[in-house]
Amino acid sequence: MIDQQIKAVIRDIADFPKPGIVFKDITPILKDPALCNGIVDAFIDQLKGTRVDVVAGVESRGFLFGLTLANKLGVPFVPVRKAGKLPFSIKQKVYELEYGTATIELHTDAFEPGQHVLIHDDLLATGGTVTAASELIEEMGGVVAGFTFVVGLNFLNGKERIAPLCDKIVVLAEY
Ligand code: PRP
Ligand code: MG
Repeated sequence: MIDQQIKAVIRDIADFPKPGIVFKDITPILKDPALCNGIVDAFIDQLKGTRVDVVAGVESRGFLFGLTLANKLGVPFVPVRKAGKLPFSIKQKVYELEYGTATIELHTDAFEPGQHVLIHDDLLATGGTVTAASELIEEMGGVVAGFTFVVGLNFLNGKERIAPLCDKIVVLAEY
């Protein structure tokens, strides 16, 4: 199964980026083209019956599978970027981190009001990043179509946090 294939290659890196954190390193997945294709196919399979007009991938690791997913679904891909990176007119969302704040941005022409936007990221931890993305998309008149993640860290309760935003949540490998 895809979850076992993903877990077989993900690397745990102790004390990165800070002491006490065990980092899930997805880079070995990227060296395996068959597994990369399998991941995108698994997303597409689990999105059957879900209207997706646009895929929004979250900088930076959400770009890795987000673009391929959009291409295979035959819909546009739009990047949700960190502050100051997008060149055209933007809308932004400031959100709380454990210490301080972060800002994400979308181009104002990323999608049309009423379009269904799938939010993709590599990993679901606390859910703070995709919650902010979801709020930004809704403020711009979009409808959140669902969320897709390669990895989910269930002990951080991200799924519970984002469940009220949209009930379509796909997580391929859960820890
Ligand atoms: C990581 C990960 C997700 C986010 C998950 O990104 O890729 O985007 O954190 O955390 P959350 O669910 O608690 O919000 P990071 O900010 O490390 O940046 P990167 O993708 O650019 O490496
Ligand atoms: Mg990220």
